Amino acid sequence: MSNMNQVRSFDAVSGVIVAEAGCILESLNNYLIPHGSMMPLDLGAKGSCHIGGNLASNAGGLRLLRYGSLHGSTLGLEVVLPDGTILNNLATLRKDNTGYDLKQLFIGSEGTLGIITAASILTPQLPKAVNVAFLGVKDYQAVQTVFRRARQELSEILSAFEFIDEESMRLVKIHASLRDPLSDSFPFYILIETHGSNKEHDDEKLSSLLEKLMEEEIVQDGVVAQDETQVTSLWKYREFIPEAVSKHGKTYKYDLSIPLPSLYQVVEKIRVHLESQGVFDPKSESGLIRAVTGYGHVGDGNLHLNVVASEVSPRVAAALEPYVYELTSSYQGSISAEHGLGFQKAEYLKYSKSPEMIKLMQITKKQYDPQGILNPYKYLPTLE
Ligand code: LAC
Ligand code: ZN
Repeated sequence: MSNMNQVRSFDAVSGVIVAEAGCILESLNNYLIPHGSMMPLDLGAKGSCHIGGNLASNAGGLRLLRYGSLHGSTLGLEVVLPDGTILNNLATLRKDNTGYDLKQLFIGSEGTLGIITAASILTPQLPKAVNVAFLGVKDYQAVQTVFRRARQELSEILSAFEFIDEESMRLVKIHASLRDPLSDSFPFYILIETHGSNKEHDDEKLSSLLEKLMEEEIVQDGVVAQDETQVTSLWKYREFIPEAVSKHGKTYKYDLSIPLPSLYQVVEKIRVHLESQGVFDPKSESGLIRAVTGYGHVGDGNLHLNVVASEVSPRVAAALEPYVYELTSSYQGSISAEHGLGFQKAEYLKYSKSPEMIKLMQITKKQYDPQGILNPYKYLPTLE
């Protein structure tokens, strides 16, 4: 039996790779790097996740800010439909304006319409210069100011802009046995990464930005990685958070899109709400809830809200849901920015999509999978 993990072709001029769904994301990168290319997405699970799964779940990851979503970089797909039909559309064309763009339906459909078996993906150039800066700031307002300034002054070389709140950092330090990255603790940390083609030019841009931000006291403290090892170790503080929160207790994970100005208000409101429900004491870990953390891809308006409880409890669940979804909807946010709907969020889709849109999705599902054999009960609310 084949594991469907072969690269079928790669064209270094256009940067298009055609790969089978079972390829591990990191092995695709290892294949591409000697050719001067890389995969457009990167995430903590790169060593074990399959590209087919990444496409089916439309994984976002750490550099969506720069390289866009898989909806943009996927040029074609090969898909097996529920009735066994093979839909061969492994196009390698950048432009194709003929008919409905059917592949988009499968990207992020979580295996409910068909099984992706191969994909052609446009890969960006491997950057010649990579920089990482890790900063400490005093409030969420400063996170937004730094983002605006980073976009203005780093512009085309900015490749990631992530944030970590103090609680997330506390858990990372406990569970990864890491020391404080900076001289002190801060309410918020920012990780800025640049990808460029000229090290001197990038260094100059980044250091001039940081100098100004420190001078204006927008940033309190910061470090810049001096080599590749330091790049990796600074990223660890961010990449290790999901594992750290899981080690700390039973975690309720939410993955929300919220307009940037209100993004952190969500975490603050949840803390107040959980306290009022008697399940959380912000000053100690003695309540049912041990920690409420916020971190994520702030550059994409994507908040990861993680609530760590001492046990899985109906009281915690009832305090969180549907409150989290109602709150998200009140900000016109999305109840899933990148992790998808799966089983748990199917019934909550109404907080992000109108009845007309949900109806059309249900019709689409029926059209592709009339017997309902692919991921039944997941993704969409059950038909009334
Ligand atoms: C991350 C995963 C949880 O951003 O999406 O770390
Ligand atoms: Zn994420």
